[in-house]
Amino acid sequence: MKKSEEKKEVDTKPRPGETPSEVEDFLDLRPRRLSEYIGQGQVVETLDIAIKAAKKRGEPLDHILFHSPPGLGKTTLAHIIATEMGGRIITSSGPAIEKGGDLISILTHLEKGDVLFIDEIHRLPKVVEEFLYPAMEDFCIDFIFDKGAHARSHRYRLERFTLVGATTRAGLLSAPLRERFGILRNLDFYSVEELNRVVKRSAALLGVLIDQEGTEEIAKRSRGTPRISNRLLKRVRDYAEIRGQGKITKEITDEALRLEGVDEMGLTSLDRRFLETIIRYYKGGPVGLEAIAATLQEEADTLVDMVEPFLLKIGFVARTQNGRKATELAYEHFGIPYHESGRQLSLPTRKKH
Ligand code: ADE
Repeated sequence: MKKSEEKKEVDTKPRPGETPSEVEDFLDLRPRRLSEYIGQGQVVETLDIAIKAAKKRGEPLDHILFHSPPGLGKTTLAHIIATEMGGRIITSSGPAIEKGGDLISILTHLEKGDVLFIDEIHRLPKVVEEFLYPAMEDFCIDFIFDKGAHARSHRYRLERFTLVGATTRAGLLSAPLRERFGILRNLDFYSVEELNRVVKRSAALLGVLIDQEGTEEIAKRSRGTPRISNRLLKRVRDYAEIRGQGKITKEITDEALRLEGVDEMGLTSLDRRFLETIIRYYKGGPVGLEAIAATLQEEADTLVDMVEPFLLKIGFVARTQNGRKATELAYEHFGIPYHESGRQLSLPTRKKH
């Protein structure tokens, strides 16, 4: 497909609640229709069937829960669902909804067929979560007045809406909340072949020239994550314009990503510090996550959400009952002999008890 044709396929109208400039930022590269979405084949097929069936019956879609590490398409899919259903999307997040009243205000302003997207839904306070149960199940909220013997309740009817929840930690979601979703899907890391297509599509939208090797190199270094592909593509484009002839090649990509601190596997400096801490400081592990976080002076949550999933996926880290271990593959990546790891130490080590 020619560049100009591919641009036309993308709907650039603002979404409800978006200003035109937000649209440019947000939309520039993300797909707006299910047919444009690359990867997550089974999830896309499930959604396609559910959306068509709901539309055929003239009903809102079932509530949907997406679970994945960051950057794999949860928010994008929520927007696509709203577009495909022809409704609005109202977005919020678990930590932003602090009190029951905050949620009630959102719920009572929903119109029929709206998509309510709650990101980081595992961080909803418990009291707020309890208002969500009848809202999801019966499309109503129960107000309780007075206490004890004088307690009275009033049922407020809501318009039928679809809740799309997103979480990086399905395990932290309470069972009653999880059970109220009709569709629960995990989004997995993308293959290099899928990311190749994402990079190609994004380069066409940005109007940047890129050859096959350049495309593959960016795809290969994207940690299985389209959001990273798009970010790296923009950095490499800048580099190509200023230091090269404007065209993205493998050579230009290598140079630009060296500057970005992204290595040939796509690992960032935080990934490398995480692995090197286990290998050099804790003799390869097993070591508890809290100890690694303290050594790195990073939040344990950041490591669990942003660092570990990809390192587990590529087999550089193993989770054991006693903590995290660096695998032989990780040692190889750093050129550290696996069996001699204990003697490689250049940093202080923990004393054995
Ligand atoms: N841009 C970001 N994610 C994408 C995806 N899954 N498909 C197409 N383009 C994307």
